[in-house]
Amino acid sequence: MKRKKDHYYFKAREEGYRSRAAYKLKEIAARFKIFKGVQSVLDLCCSPGGWLQVVKEYLGDEGTIIGVDLSEIESINGVIFIKGDIQNEKTIRRILEVTDKVDLVLSDCSPKVSGIWSLDHERQIQLAKASLNIAKRFLREGGSLVLKVFQGAEYECLLDEIRRVFQRVYTTKPSASRKQSAEMYVVAKYFKRKEEPYSSTSLA
Ligand SMILES: C[S@@+](CC[C@H](N)C(=O)[O-])C[C@H]1O[C@@H](n2cnc3c(N)ncnc32)[C@H](O)[C@@H]1O
Repeated sequence: MKRKKDHYYFKAREEGYRSRAAYKLKEIAARFKIFKGVQSVLDLCCSPGGWLQVVKEYLGDEGTIIGVDLSEIESINGVIFIKGDIQNEKTIRRILEVTDKVDLVLSDCSPKVSGIWSLDHERQIQLAKASLNIAKRFLREGGSLVLKVFQGAEYECLLDEIRRVFQRVYTTKPSASRKQSAEMYVVAKYFKRKEEPYSSTSLA
């Protein structure tokens, strides 16, 4: 499906961001102060790297920034990129080779859109669940998660699960998110480590 180029598309080109998505994270960061005190970030589904550019602006040359995606990215100085499927244990092991704890997990995952709504929703929820599991595995106590979720049948159930493991949970639709899109962003703060052991299947 071909998308109309909008204000944010042109703004991103003008300001040197790789994606219009960068403005979603900027807005979320300004509103929810997600980078306060943060020194390590894991960005799931990071390609082409607009969010990584924003992370880099906040962290500078200090700290650890790891990006993961199925698709290659053009390298960003100081960013460790792992090419892999976030639903695959092999990818988790590769992240573990770099670190076992981060302050902030970001996830902006979208499946290849088929146009069949129920299928796209189901696939996106699977990616959001995989991201939540990775956040549970890697977040330090008190850490934060920003997670894209398509609204639909499983949305509330996933929110309930997030509320069980974070003290504060907000939902937001940044202005750069297209009105007609079902995507919402969940901002979850103060991770409660850890009543339950990590499991790659517990939310499957
Ligand atoms: C909306 S884009 C992310 C944009 C990014 N936040 C940015 O600012 O440039 C969604 C990404 O999800 C990735 N993706 C989808 N399924 C994935 C999976 N199973 N594992 C890793 N990445 C995946 C796609 O390759 C795509 O790059």
